[in-house]
Amino acid sequence: MQDILQQLEAKRAKARLGGGEKRIAAQHGKGKLTARERLEILLDEGTFEEWDMFVEHRCADFGMASQKIPGDGVVTGYGTINGRLVFVFSQDFTVFGGSLSEAHAEKICKVMDMALRVGAPVIGLNDSGGARIQEGVASLGGYAEVFQRNVTASGVVPQISLVMGPCAGGAVYSPAMTDFIFMVKDSSYMFVTGPEVVKTVTHEEVTSEDLGGAITHTTKSGVADLAFENDVEALLMMRRFFNYLPANNREKAPLRDSGDPIHREDFSLDTLVPDNPNKPYDMKELIVKIVDDGDFFELQPDYAKNIVIGFARMAGQVVGIVANQPLVLAGCLDIKSSIKAARFVRFCDAFSIPVLTFVDVPGFMPGTAQEYGGIIKHGAKLLYAYAECTVPKITVITRKAYGGAYDVMASKHLRGDVNFAWPNAEIAVMGAKGAVEIIFREEKSDPGKLAAREAEYKAKFANPFVAGARGYVDDVIMPHGTRRRICRALELLRDKKIEEPWRKHGNIPL
Ligand code: HXC
Repeated sequence: MQDILQQLEAKRAKARLGGGEKRIAAQHGKGKLTARERLEILLDEGTFEEWDMFVEHRCADFGMASQKIPGDGVVTGYGTINGRLVFVFSQDFTVFGGSLSEAHAEKICKVMDMALRVGAPVIGLNDSGGARIQEGVASLGGYAEVFQRNVTASGVVPQISLVMGPCAGGAVYSPAMTDFIFMVKDSSYMFVTGPEVVKTVTHEEVTSEDLGGAITHTTKSGVADLAFENDVEALLMMRRFFNYLPANNREKAPLRDSGDPIHREDFSLDTLVPDNPNKPYDMKELIVKIVDDGDFFELQPDYAKNIVIGFARMAGQVVGIVANQPLVLAGCLDIKSSIKAARFVRFCDAFSIPVLTFVDVPGFMPGTAQEYGGIIKHGAKLLYAYAECTVPKITVITRKAYGGAYDVMASKHLRGDVNFAWPNAEIAVMGAKGAVEIIFREEKSDPGKLAAREAEYKAKFANPFVAGARGYVDDVIMPHGTRRRICRALELLRDKKIEEPWRKHGNIPL
């Protein structure tokens, strides 16, 4: 028996060594941790239980029969993060470059299947040269098996990707279908075709980093949510982020009361919005001042900055925050910001996270670039997302809510549950100046008359009381009391239910 135990230990030791000392040193040399080291940081100490450590590939071509490494390039299993169950897979670049074989894919599919069965999130750590070239179509089939599970699990359990190395070709579509993507600066990249192919086809010269690095995807493409300096930072932030997520679509995100009083008032909010409606202010200041402990986990902070999204807690309950940002493009809605916010609202809706919306929006961005780019279709995504969303929706209009954008931003008409406005709010079809220039066009030559008309329009519409008189806002509230009013509304809506007519699924404008 002792012999058998020793053999098992020797087998395990071999598997743990992956592609061997030399390749591990090379991995470290690139500033990257190994697949196992990453899991040690991600998971609570001693909680990782590994599966399929002895799985090997079945390929016999190109000399592969003699090159078998137990585990076959991916470490899979489960553990806990801050005491909560999570399934993980971590690709091992030291084994055939982390490339995906049929057996490697089966291992990933096994943890995904179990995650669905028991209702727990999946976190994938991607570091792979893509399809195992020696295997050909078997590897492609393996990818598609993973893709199918990504889609089946979408909206059922949270799925998060941490891209920590190469992720190229069709392989990018697995992370792309997960809910959130974190990347590591200078060591991870994602692209459909690499720099060499780009050069041949479009004659562009571009580095991997510029084409698909963490900065590119968090500032230009919006493919990734956050970029981190190194593996350790990314993993530790993932642990923090995980606290905001529910285990699955039938459970709520964990309640964590920090003791921050619900009734805490912040009088600096009364002067946050400048008197001049054309002057910007930082919407994030408002968010940080009203959420529990000022703790706001922002996503995509460097992409479409005219809208802010992220998670926070109010009275211990996780909320998803969507807010126009007057500091950038005056907070108007454009293609990128609409898509960014729409996807976030849909995540919150799928996973029972109330949506808190702060509105200061002068409208949709005008221009040929936007129209040719399809702002109609993309703006409709956000409208659709808010309208289909059945989780508690609380809206605060802090200043402008103009035109179609007023409707879109979780208005009462889109089943907003509790809609507040600050006293200085302007809820109208458009700003006073633009409005009088249209309806009193014939008086344009008389600036004095036009100014008087503008003042008249402003007095009539540049306030929250016209909307208030129709019940489109439930109350006009003091800015300093915003936290208390939101916390009370959340409490009120805790068991909210909405019945919807049967359908297979809606048809969001894609
Ligand atoms: C098999 C692979 C591999 C792969 C890398 N390796 N990629 N083995 N299949 N796809 C092996 C290498 O042979 C090498 O083995 C080891 O992994 C490390 O690779 P290096 O090239 O030494 O590392 P590095 O210089 O860091 O370059 C990493 C890399 C490069 C940029 C990822 O390896 C590369 O370009 N690989 C091929 C990428 C590719 O074309 N993949 C197919 C994409 S198409 P040794 O034994 O020397 O250590 C695709 C389709 C998916 O993925 C479709 C889904 C629908």
